Amino acid sequence: MEVVIVPDAKAGGELVAQALAELVRRKPDAVLGVATGSTPLPVYEALTAKVRAGAVDVSRVRIAQLDEYVGLPAEHPESYRSVLRREVLAPLGIDEAAFMGPDGAASDIVAACQAYDAALAGAGGVDLQILGIGTDGHIGFNEPCSSLASRTRIKTLTEQTRVDNARFFDGDITQVPHHVITQGIGTILDARHLVLLASGEGKADAVAASVEGPVASVCPASALQLHPHATVVVDEGAASKLKLGDYFRYTFANKPAWQGI
Ligand code: F6R
Repeated sequence: MEVVIVPDAKAGGELVAQALAELVRRKPDAVLGVATGSTPLPVYEALTAKVRAGAVDVSRVRIAQLDEYVGLPAEHPESYRSVLRREVLAPLGIDEAAFMGPDGAASDIVAACQAYDAALAGAGGVDLQILGIGTDGHIGFNEPCSSLASRTRIKTLTEQTRVDNARFFDGDITQVPHHVITQGIGTILDARHLVLLASGEGKADAVAASVEGPVASVCPASALQLHPHATVVVDEGAASKLKLGDYFRYTFANKPAWQGI
């Protein structure tokens, strides 16, 4: 996997937006896999700026959701569908018809999960999947000890993840659902390019374990080591516990410019 250490989250957002723009120029109907949470916001902002400047046309792009709370109605402001409408679809001017995601309000959750995996396959798979990382190493909502071969399914959030996400629910943990539908780790690994972003020292342990630790389900993001095209974009804080930080800086600084990430 490639590790790119950027000065700050804004620079990471610009780098990844550039990669997205290049992908869409090559493949105008690309499927972009999007995560929610704070970390990817600079990517979406930088991509929006490029679209508004006329540097890239995203009118044929399709958007695929990574995970969703179970039990929140789709119109709840903190359902991930609502969040992605606000943070991705509306700013980029992408129509709802180009959006696919799991139905967290379905009466048959198992069927909803299977239907989502089938929809992703039917769309030809995800071209580039953006990922954040939890302080416990989760990707999507694959909490520690999730099967590395897992497909989209229901998961129970850890207490730590609910505490971390309470900020989106007025700081009230009782409002944070216990359950989510998440693309499995196997589903995520099907995407053609994985880009994991992390900012801040709070993510440094999880990043170090994912990049330099063993591949182990106890750290779900370590599964990226199994992917042929995985890029980890971290700011100085999130990179602060990497033993190979200088090596990663050196290799990126000397990479052929045409290669992109
Ligand atoms: C959300 C998701 C999660 C977050 C992770 C980090 O769709 O998949 O894995 O990426 O919890 O969240 P932030 O970026 O808010 O620190």
